Amino acid sequence: MAAETPARRPRAEGRPRQEADAGSQEPPADAAIWSEGLTKQYGTRRSVDRINLHVPVGALSGFVGPNGAGKTTTLRMLLGLIRPTEGRGFVLGHRIDAPARYLARVGAMIEGPTFHPGLTGRANLHLLARLRRLGPDRVAETLDMVGLTSRADDRFTSYSLGMKQRLGIAAALLPGPELLVLDEPTNGLDPAGIREIRSLLKDLAATRMTVFVSSHLLSEVEQICDHLVMIRGGRLLFQGHVTELLAAEDPRLVLTPEHRGDVHRLAVLLRDHGLRVDPVRESASGTVRVHAPEGVAASLNKIAMTAGITLRALTACRPTLEETFLMATGGVDGDLIPRSRTAPDATVGSGASGTAVSDISGQAS
Ligand SMILES: Nc1ncnc2c1ncn2[C@@H]1O[C@H](COP(=O)(O)OP(=O)(O)OP(=O)(O)O)[C@@H](O)[C@H]1O
Ligand SMILES: [Mg+2]
Repeated sequence: MAAETPARRPRAEGRPRQEADAGSQEPPADAAIWSEGLTKQYGTRRSVDRINLHVPVGALSGFVGPNGAGKTTTLRMLLGLIRPTEGRGFVLGHRIDAPARYLARVGAMIEGPTFHPGLTGRANLHLLARLRRLGPDRVAETLDMVGLTSRADDRFTSYSLGMKQRLGIAAALLPGPELLVLDEPTNGLDPAGIREIRSLLKDLAATRMTVFVSSHLLSEVEQICDHLVMIRGGRLLFQGHVTELLAAEDPRLVLTPEHRGDVHRLAVLLRDHGLRVDPVRESASGTVRVHAPEGVAASLNKIAMTAGITLRALTACRPTLEETFLMATGGVDGDLIPRSRTAPDATVGSGASGTAVSDISGQAS
């Protein structure tokens, strides 16, 4: 990573020349990261198991998997820090067994930043810039990008965890990379710190930089990433654009009877009308979920009213990425899916909108 790389270097037209590899598929032109059968075995354990990656150029891609899924091992292989046991990988069009060809165009922070504790943030970055033969201007620019300018002349030891992470990202940004690889940059941060990192990543992605960011929490990356790679137990579970995952899911309506005792009766009634109703659990929130578009809300209200069931709320519900993913994969345990959530996005039948629950009792249609 020694060659001088000017800040915000425009992306090269087309893709870099591929090294020949007879008989194997070449990475597509739009792939910033691509692999075929990438595998890492430690003893008898396959930490990464035949993973085929395709992270498009310019994507803000979340690399998600529970603890021990193989994220860091994969990232280390992609950066040429460890050798794959099997398989091939390409970063910015170059094979990962020749990292010198691409590392000058890659910024990375793997498993937390390490800095000299007695030096200021600025002095630490100057040291790294000199090692990389980059000009001092770049230090001020990256400090500004990560929002650390006002604290740049304080010693590293005085920094909060979030500031330390931001300095780590600044170090990764020093060479003006085309690809930024961050391993769990929000680890240990409080919600405000997580929000700061999220907004920083969004800003970076807007510059057309490809960002590949790992997390063990889907909920942490789903809000910002337009592309996801999900792994568990070393295996690839899902890879693609977030919209593809969400498009697979159908809309729901959530009906809340005024009296909890009516929940089962309402579920049976709606099933009798040929509607697909999610199973109703005794411990559930007193709601009935129906697979139906917003347009039939008034009819459902009428069916309930006719049967003498008053509804307290009728809400259109968009399943979250987590729920969609659970349904697509048949369930995931561990901390990839930490809890079940729903994301109501519109309230129908009441004239109000944007709230999860609203009073519609007495409303006939
Ligand atoms: N050097 C090593 N020697 C032996 N096993 C290893 C080594 N590095 C990683 N592993 C094992 O490989 C598996 C994947 O580890 P890895 O660190 O890649 O997971 P991860 O997804 O980054 O997890 P986390 O979210 O906890 O950081 C784990 O079972 C781990 O114990
Ligand atoms: Mg890790």
